[in-house]
Amino acid sequence: MKLSFNGLAKSFGGHRAVDGVTAVFEDVRSLAFIGPSGGGKSTLLRMVGGLETPTEGSLAINEEEVIFEPAALQKHRRAIGFVFQAFNLFPHMDALRNITLPLEKVHGLSAAQARETAMAALKRFRLDQHAHKRPAELSGGQNQRIAIARAIAIKPKLLLFDEPTSALDPEMTSGVLDIIEELKEEGREFLLVTHEMGFARNVADRVAFLADGRIVESGPPSELFGAPQTAACRDFLARVLKY
Ligand SMILES: Nc1ncnc2c1ncn2[C@@H]1O[C@H](COP(=O)(O)OP(=O)(O)O)[C@@H](O)[C@H]1O
Ligand SMILES: [Mg+2]
Repeated sequence: MKLSFNGLAKSFGGHRAVDGVTAVFEDVRSLAFIGPSGGGKSTLLRMVGGLETPTEGSLAINEEEVIFEPAALQKHRRAIGFVFQAFNLFPHMDALRNITLPLEKVHGLSAAQARETAMAALKRFRLDQHAHKRPAELSGGQNQRIAIARAIAIKPKLLLFDEPTSALDPEMTSGVLDIIEELKEEGREFLLVTHEMGFARNVADRVAFLADGRIVESGPPSELFGAPQTAACRDFLARVLKY
């Protein structure tokens, strides 16, 4: 994939959460964003997914500019699989229904097609035995894997993961990271915001360090982690890798 940001900015009130990002990532399959909390990672990811409208600038995926107008935006969002920190599953529906609902309501599948697609996604992640359980009956790790199954079920052209393991115990984290790694091996393309530096290093083919709304530094993980070029990135890595 080729991802281009051109003077991309987003303000909330007077605060520039994303402060004029210009960057091109070429031939990237898995791009990780790291950086301090409040640095603008989620806002940037949400603009890529069309969930947040830029106040300035533009962005393009594979040379195709994302058009922030209702009809184009709806189409764009449909092609993107989102996985958030907080799972965002409907609590009153079982796992299967959480997956079939968007397939029917957003993607226009029949009930039978949706069920077949959803069951295949659940099986794919070894979750079919949980199809009829509600989120409260499952662990955080299982819920996040269901959220990933839901994101995959829509056959997205791009997956966006925003701190998918931040709400999980270490033990459950590895189950979710295993799945993301499998998706990478399958050739799926994704952007990932993560605090798991070891994982970013292993799974991403490019890493961008974001702070104060800007991409301060980016490069292959071996370079960015091995020899960070900026004091800001060095300090951040020293802090997060200390313990
Ligand atoms: N919907 C919003 N309304 C107001 N401020 C927001 C909103 N979303 C994010 N912000 C602010 O924008 C900045 C960047 O936030 P965010 O993109 O969530 O950073 P990160 O994901 O790197 O922690 C923060 O100062 C945050 O408080
Ligand atoms: Mg965030």
